Amino acid sequence: MRKLTEANLTDAVVARLAKTTDPRFKEVMASLIRHVHAFVREVELSEEEWFEAIKFLTATGQQCDAKRQEYILLSDVLGVSMLVDAINHRRGGGATENTVLGPFYVHGAPEIENGGDMAKGWDGEPTYVSGRVLSTDGKPVPGALLDMWQSNTEGWYDVQVADTGGRQLRAKLRADAEGRFRFRTIKPTAYPVPTDGPVGQILDRMGRHPMRPAHLHFIVTAPGYETVVTHLFVEGDPYLESDAVFGVKNSLVVDFRRNNSEEAARKVGLPAPFCEASYEFVLKPAGGKQQHVTSAADAARV
Ligand code: BEZ
Ligand code: FE
Repeated sequence: MRKLTEANLTDAVVARLAKTTDPRFKEVMASLIRHVHAFVREVELSEEEWFEAIKFLTATGQQCDAKRQEYILLSDVLGVSMLVDAINHRRGGGATENTVLGPFYVHGAPEIENGGDMAKGWDGEPTYVSGRVLSTDGKPVPGALLDMWQSNTEGWYDVQVADTGGRQLRAKLRADAEGRFRFRTIKPTAYPVPTDGPVGQILDRMGRHPMRPAHLHFIVTAPGYETVVTHLFVEGDPYLESDAVFGVKNSLVVDFRRNNSEEAARKVGLPAPFCEASYEFVLKPAGGKQQHVTSAADAARV
């Protein structure tokens, strides 16, 4: 077509997908083209604004490497990650809900024994977390694997801090034959998502704060069950209602109770006072496709 106009351009671009052989790719690209064109029309994008967007996306890419994923962060703060998650994990039936993976997951956390210490000397409020992994039919899931990570009390993950000496505040733990798990750590604190890059700037321009409510991250897996990628949030955190990445779900908010008993502290191998939290993860028997959990390093390996 030689007479392309504002009115027929979108159809002309979509028509060039005619020889695309992968039907799903074709469907996604056609929809993407139509939506981007509709957006440009709706806001009547100026050339200056389009160039600003190009610069922003360029800067976002330049912030990415094996340890930092500014595009995941962008997807998170725009609510896209949670929308993709919601569409792909419509569990119901009492199964534990998913939430956002975030950009700080790293493969290969060290294994600790059930009851072991994930904090290994990090300062913070001593905390004991315990619970069970059950199936949606109420039966225990023996030997479920919990892969866990959290930030330190200043709000940093190990990958954000130089020279932490390997993986820190991360652990894998196997539940026992009755699906029971327990571990020691430090109480998580609220922290800001990284604000020193383009995503920080756009949050600021939108008049939004960058804070995430305090949480522990979990990936819970067991053969024959759907993988759960989730958090446990600390009840009472001031940012539960306004999480920068829209990840909070009521079912994932847990009491981290203060326990002043010396005897109770001794029993769990912590100094008093300490915090304790418990949770039952409920796994759904695997039906469809399993979630493939990826890290910033995987995204950088193109
Ligand atoms: C996190 O919880 O680690 C996280 C999630 C989304 C964006 C930034 C951080
Ligand atoms: Fe986090």
